[in-house]
Amino acid sequence: MALAVTSSSTAISGSSFSRSVASSDSKALQICSMRLSDRTHVATTLSQRRFSMKPLKESWVLRASTLIAPEVEEKEVEVEDFEKLAKKLEDASPLEIMDKALEKFGNDIAIAFSGAEDVALIEYAHLTGKPFRVFSLDTGRLNPETYRLFDAVEKQYGIRIEYTFPDAVEVQALVRNKGLFSFYEDGHQECCRVRKVRPLRRALKGLKAWITGQRKDQSPGTRSEIPIVQVDPVFEGLDGGVGSLVKWNPLANVEGSDVWKFLRTMDVPVNALHAQGYVSIGCEPCTRPVLPGQHEREGRWWWEDAKAKECGLHKGNIKEENGVADSKPVVVQEIFESNNVVTLSRGGIENLMKLENRKEPWLVVLYAPWCPFCQAMEASYIELAEKLAGKGVKVAKFRADGEEKEFAKQELQLGSFPTILLFPKRAPRAIKYPSEHRDVDSLMLFVNLLR
Ligand code: ADX
Ligand code: SF4
Repeated sequence: MALAVTSSSTAISGSSFSRSVASSDSKALQICSMRLSDRTHVATTLSQRRFSMKPLKESWVLRASTLIAPEVEEKEVEVEDFEKLAKKLEDASPLEIMDKALEKFGNDIAIAFSGAEDVALIEYAHLTGKPFRVFSLDTGRLNPETYRLFDAVEKQYGIRIEYTFPDAVEVQALVRNKGLFSFYEDGHQECCRVRKVRPLRRALKGLKAWITGQRKDQSPGTRSEIPIVQVDPVFEGLDGGVGSLVKWNPLANVEGSDVWKFLRTMDVPVNALHAQGYVSIGCEPCTRPVLPGQHEREGRWWWEDAKAKECGLHKGNIKEENGVADSKPVVVQEIFESNNVVTLSRGGIENLMKLENRKEPWLVVLYAPWCPFCQAMEASYIELAEKLAGKGVKVAKFRADGEEKEFAKQELQLGSFPTILLFPKRAPRAIKYPSEHRDVDSLMLFVNLLR
């Protein structure tokens, strides 16, 4: 394991990462991907995972309240280069890869099990003889056959699958507003966000690594380059912050037909839907069988453009085409949508800046909806807003990309997305949140100490 010594200028050179976000605003993209935080003094690349990050300290927050930039702290951080490891494991068998993943991460890693061919992952884990954990996102819309398979797998391996469910209030709001099948009309992203992506984010916050069944041949458009192992370009793990989660794809180089040979040889339970022509299986309303010769992905979200066929679980796979960013972002959906988060217009935030004595303190996130770091903090920010509702602190958002970017840089201390500002009750100038730890507790501490 190599040791990286810190430097005062942050240089996150995630070229593969920056490709994963297609945006019309290449400069904004640079801000997002290249300058993660002007106060992070850790030189890591996105192929490297930080093993130790200090939690946000009260003294640090208090220092921020003086409005003096914190001193540059020299920190030593252990990093491992997962890009190198991925190359080393390029010819390894799924069994070797699984063994390595379990050996490295022990109880802090889990297999993401969706009830299709992922049984192969569980069988490989079982064959290593090491203990292993399995989690699944129960969207509430899975086929009965998938639930039956979950049960069969638990019995076969003597395990309990760790299910994560969507937030009841969020599902309720979506369904009450838009009905049960809104995805056929306005796309699957919103429903997937509520039923899959946010629950996944929660599940991953309890882990340091996860194992998926993604394969290169699954989706030529989005998965043809997935590595055996990578620092997760989108989600955060237990330690929080960018680089705190590792993603393993032991089947990356295995062809679908070989997975099936393995499943048959090992005589393990499989989803009964496969016998009815289903290949790639997700939620019931969004999955259908494919005809001979059709690609497996054609059975998923068939009413949509093939390019958008990532539901958000593997958002990092979406990249620009031919090395040139698309003129439009692939997925740009509004974020931080909650009754407890006020949307500020340019005029609104200018008024807030002018006030010397505010009725209450305001916490404002400067964000860009396409930025994965903003997306990654969405759940905690909404939860924080819920906790602060009625407690005398306003929580708000201001979209600061595009034409607002220059203004936000000049007037609102925007360095990188997201930038979080607290406008205290009695101080004219906003205080910038200095940490990359964007979990509810750290943000709450910041608010409570400085409000
Ligand atoms: S999806 O993003 O289009 O839904 P896909 O069905 O191809 O993903 O599955 C790829 C991998 O993502 C699976 O092998 C599994 O590891 C993970 N995955 C997909 N759906 C789930 C789920 N509901 N719960 C847990 N993991 C999942
Ligand atoms: Fe909703 Fe379909 Fe996505 Fe399942 S796959 S979460 S039903 S849009």
